[in-house]
Amino acid sequence: MMEQYICNNCGKKHDITPTLWKCECGGVLNIVKDTPKIDVAAWNNYPNSLWRYFETMPFAKDSKTWESITMGEGQSPLIVLDPLELNTYVKVEYMMPTLSFKDRGAAVLIAKAKDLGVSKVIADSSGNAGTAIAAYAARCNIACEIYLSDETSPKKIAQVKAHGATIKEIQGTREDIAAAAQKAVDEGKVFYASHVYNPYFYEGTKTYAYEIYEQLNGVPDSLIIPVGNGTLLLGAYYGFIELFENRLIEKVPKIIAIQAANCAPLVSAYENGDATAALVTNKGTLAEGIAIAAPARSKQILEAVRKTNGIFIDIKEDEILSARAILADKGFYVEVTTAANYAGYIKYKKAPNEKIIIPLCGAGIKSK
Ligand SMILES: Cc1ncc(COP(=O)(O)O)c(C=O)c1O
Ligand SMILES: [Zn+2]
Repeated sequence: MMEQYICNNCGKKHDITPTLWKCECGGVLNIVKDTPKIDVAAWNNYPNSLWRYFETMPFAKDSKTWESITMGEGQSPLIVLDPLELNTYVKVEYMMPTLSFKDRGAAVLIAKAKDLGVSKVIADSSGNAGTAIAAYAARCNIACEIYLSDETSPKKIAQVKAHGATIKEIQGTREDIAAAAQKAVDEGKVFYASHVYNPYFYEGTKTYAYEIYEQLNGVPDSLIIPVGNGTLLLGAYYGFIELFENRLIEKVPKIIAIQAANCAPLVSAYENGDATAALVTNKGTLAEGIAIAAPARSKQILEAVRKTNGIFIDIKEDEILSARAILADKGFYVEVTTAANYAGYIKYKKAPNEKIIIPLCGAGIKSK
């Protein structure tokens, strides 16, 4: 049977085609699928990368596309941050081919695009997702166009350029940039390699949970997760739910979601008890990677955090900078956005012996 999407808003099912990226009602799309039956013993049949979990992803069983696309993404180290806090770990997500966790989603999404016979993709990004999509598209000779803000960190723009992608620098808000990309997608009938809209991206980011399960031989109590559009948050949540439904773990960790106070639509919605986030004005934040004023999957993000009894924490600009310096003192040089994750950890009132994982999402050399 042909693979299908289902609208998260109205429930309508759609056949998956290279040009479909949202429902006509405006809703975001999810993949129609059952919880995968996890065969842990099969994982060793694959190389040491996120492709260990290939059989949990909705690909044709005999698809070998990933073999020519992989650059060894995944299996990032899980390290005790400080010998005085043995229950606090960092997962070093910047140890990835393009130096951020976005490689998880991009590798899987581009493998799917290749299976669909796509020859060109368009994406919009605050920087890291665009870099990752550009790299994997280059790897399999798919033409790539990335829409970015003219204020994106120059190092990220240089990375995208290096992979041969066409860059469209747009003046305006993050929402204006997404709208420009979506217009080009619809007018040119191009595949939208969106980390926000395309649900295959989350099939990649869910491997964050699978890896933690293997590395800890179980689950932590809590996950610190930065959230702009929610690709790591939702991926981690889906991954732990799949492990839980397969009875491999006994609980799903609590999600402690982090936003920058100057652009925190999800924090407001959470505090107001709302089901979805309303558009806010981005007042300007150094944390460019999470500066999303209108996350398209806000309903799913809020549901996920609430279902885990999680919370949201907002971080001020000065807290971001001091957190970056503390992490560097401990040996970890992260991009500015990632410092917000550690600032969130510092602010969070943890219980004694609470086992917590902080993702180090992007490398320090990506930002000024
Ligand atoms: C370094 C970094 N951290 C966190 C995020 C947030 O990811 P998301 O917008 O998918 O929630 C991003 C997104 O670009 C990022 O680049
Ligand atoms: Zn719909």
